[in-house]
Amino acid sequence: MNYQIKMSRRLQQIDTMIGQSYQHIWDCCCDHGLLGLTLLKRQAADTVHFVDIVPVLLRQLEDDLKTHYGQMQSKSRWQVHCTDVINLPLVEVCENPDSDKHLIVIAGVGGELTISLMTAILSRFSNYPLEFILCPVHHNYKVREFLISRQLGLIAESLIIENKRGYEILHVAQNVADPVSTVGSKMWDFSQQAHLDHLHKNIKHYQRIAKNPLTNVQAIIHQYQNLLHRQSVS
Ligand SMILES: C[S@@+](CC[C@H](N)C(=O)[O-])C[C@H]1O[C@@H](n2cnc3c(N)ncnc32)[C@H](O)[C@@H]1O
Repeated sequence: MNYQIKMSRRLQQIDTMIGQSYQHIWDCCCDHGLLGLTLLKRQAADTVHFVDIVPVLLRQLEDDLKTHYGQMQSKSRWQVHCTDVINLPLVEVCENPDSDKHLIVIAGVGGELTISLMTAILSRFSNYPLEFILCPVHHNYKVREFLISRQLGLIAESLIIENKRGYEILHVAQNVADPVSTVGSKMWDFSQQAHLDHLHKNIKHYQRIAKNPLTNVQAIIHQYQNLLHRQSVS
């Protein structure tokens, strides 16, 4: 595909976190499909799947793919699926269900939606060795708690600041020994002011919530504050 794909820094970072070892990569909630197009261009998987629930978006994307990326021009194939991610047709596309490696990317949607999509995928495909890259727009703490409750381990994580907003990107899978931390571990680089700002923002967010006596978020505040403390003594 020769036309230029202009991606956000957040999507660029997700792209750099994806290696070449997958039979299937699922760009879920793909919108205009920028991430998937980039992955297809560099042949990151045998098949790149574009998944979104909005028909008009996927019709346009499919037309673009046919025009710029005929199925015969590359080792990588593509498929477009206009469906709710909870109905991901993962089994249908598998040639070798026992050995096919799948990476499922869910980025750019809220944390609560991310959790409900993950819940459906994990319960439908509990026997498949799936990897996930997640980048929720909000509720990182809740998403991380959910991943811990499902015994997903951490392959990598990254913090990207874009338009003054911090995005936490998590690469996780089952049967990975490294635990996910509720407040992040490997992603922090406190030599960067933007990372400190993101941490302070999280603390302030939960301090605002703590003003409501019906909430109980002190433990969360302490966990974020501990990160601050640890970096100031190191
Ligand atoms: C803001 S875009 C995210 C685009 C891209 N993934 C990113 O990170 O920039 C959110 C997309 O999610 C899609 N979406 C929301 N809920 C969905 C669901 N349950 N199943 C499939 N797509 C969904 C919307 O149609 C929209 O195109």
